[in-house]
Amino acid sequence: MKHFLTTEDWPREDLEQLLVDADRLRGLKDQSLKGKTAALIFFNPSLRTRASFQVAMIEMGGNALVLDTAGTWSLEVEPGAMMDQGAEEHVKEAARVLSTYVDVICIRCFPKFQDWSVDRQDRLLHAFAEYATVPIVNMETIVHPCQELAHMLAVKDRLGAPDGKKYVLTWTYHPKPLNTAVANSSLLIATKFGMDVTLLCPTEEYLLDPRFMSASEENVKRSGGSLTISHDPQTAYRDADVVYAKSWGALPYFGRWEEEKPIRDAHRHFRVDEDKMALTNNALFSHCLPLRRNVKVTDAVADSPQSMIIEEAANRLPVQKAVLQRLLKGN
Ligand code: CP
Repeated sequence: MKHFLTTEDWPREDLEQLLVDADRLRGLKDQSLKGKTAALIFFNPSLRTRASFQVAMIEMGGNALVLDTAGTWSLEVEPGAMMDQGAEEHVKEAARVLSTYVDVICIRCFPKFQDWSVDRQDRLLHAFAEYATVPIVNMETIVHPCQELAHMLAVKDRLGAPDGKKYVLTWTYHPKPLNTAVANSSLLIATKFGMDVTLLCPTEEYLLDPRFMSASEENVKRSGGSLTISHDPQTAYRDADVVYAKSWGALPYFGRWEEEKPIRDAHRHFRVDEDKMALTNNALFSHCLPLRRNVKVTDAVADSPQSMIIEEAANRLPVQKAVLQRLLKGN
């Protein structure tokens, strides 16, 4: 049984095939998953992921069962736990019981933002993968693999082969420290697809977890791309073909966010704007959404012809159809 937890364990050829499948599935309504049910479990808010997974199942003739954590029991993940605290149910039962009702379980569970050494283990997702007897799909935990595929499909639609194209993943200001998942995913997919990637962030403290930095280094060895770190927007943007914006909290400050805030506040100028985009090779702009306009990116850039924010979001539907078909039908 195969899960879709992260693209790290999927070779590029398999991901390329998913993108080919996704392209074929665009606009298609069929009965390919007739009689199949997906459980969508949300521990965090969502617009795109919730809607696109539900519509994907409906358009393939199946059903989606949406479970919000407000309406279900809180879950324990620790094996052998003495459950005398908040959790009412162990994932050992929850995963196995749900597996008797549905054909695939999709999970969104963000970090708790208190202790990165715990959050980085992605324990709930892995506990579901361990105990469930049906495939598990990651709808965003510490990576966001469905967003990765949607993003790369949008890049390929606009640029053709991404290999050798200059890609900038830029940190942007946000009033709150956010999840690193999309940044991790952006780095993983761009390096796997042979792009010359620059990670632009305010300081060394905003580098991503070593797991994803190392995986990206390994990716470029195989793909022929490159990975550069920059803290200087003027240099990083120059001649870029793609600019991907995301805000995230600095990992060393998990649980001490009041100490991180002054650093974040001092880098509001990392906002994507027309002056920075003018340094590029008429670069495409994207963001995973939701997007705080004029905080992370100016209206002029977000609404420009080079912006592919809506295309990327739209691509969530066909790529998730492709993933669900692969897991449920093996094609
Ligand atoms: N990009 C994304 O996953 O959007 P939602 O958080 O709205 O699902």
